[in-house]
Amino acid sequence: MSVKEQLITEKLPRHVAVIMDGNGRWARQRGTARVFGHKNGVKAVREVTEAAAELGIDYLTLYAFSTENWNRPKNEVDALMSLLVSTIASETKTLMKNNVKLFSIGCKESLPNNVQEKLASCMKQTSTNTGLTLVLALSYSSRWEIIQAVKNLAGDVKKGDVDISDIDSNLFSGYMETRNMPDPELLIRTSGEFRISNFLLWQIAYSELYFSDVLWPDFRKEHFYEALLDFQNRERRFGKTSDQLILNK
Ligand code: FPP
Repeated sequence: MSVKEQLITEKLPRHVAVIMDGNGRWARQRGTARVFGHKNGVKAVREVTEAAAELGIDYLTLYAFSTENWNRPKNEVDALMSLLVSTIASETKTLMKNNVKLFSIGCKESLPNNVQEKLASCMKQTSTNTGLTLVLALSYSSRWEIIQAVKNLAGDVKKGDVDISDIDSNLFSGYMETRNMPDPELLIRTSGEFRISNFLLWQIAYSELYFSDVLWPDFRKEHFYEALLDFQNRERRFGKTSDQLILNK
């Protein structure tokens, strides 16, 4: 039986988050510029998006550009921004065909105007699609998101719209960029690195973590299925004991 055939629909995560890593190393192995790795990473984005949509997964969040990535050499940042614009432009048709809705999290205002415009237009065009929601984390970092949430919440307390005694994790989640989305049950990181890198720190409290040695540009549907199969075979306890889970207490 293939890995895909072993997947049980009812046991699939609703939300998968991915730290796409290894583009630079992939390029270096071929003696080419880092940008070449990013360009080839687009193929992996396409594969994973298509696989997630086909399987009926509700949300796929990709860490495409972190707040810290602004510190990379200007030519790499510029190339990544151009790649975003050209990829969104060329893929919108496919997103429509596959009923995929595009969404983004992160500090949109810090993105170049042409990226903001392309993103807004694709999000508008795909807004009524009802299949997979593809979430691009752009100029995103978890600490930035948490600070924004705290500022907005403090503002609402000050205005008298929120009572301090009403603050709980549910209310706080409503101030995050991911409000209205379920937390990711599975987080995948490629390229053999074991770090979270300031990604969805609040939301991954109970996520299963899966680390793949494959460099992102080589990541294919089959690798994604392997991660899902691994997830499906884990026991998610949420602080309970195995016995409690068996007895369904
Ligand atoms: C990390 O690899 C990858 C990124 C910072 C960018 C990811 C971007 C893409 C895959 C292309 C465009 C994406 C979309 C959604 C259209 P790295 O450069 O840190 O690799 P390294 O650790 O080997 O240097």
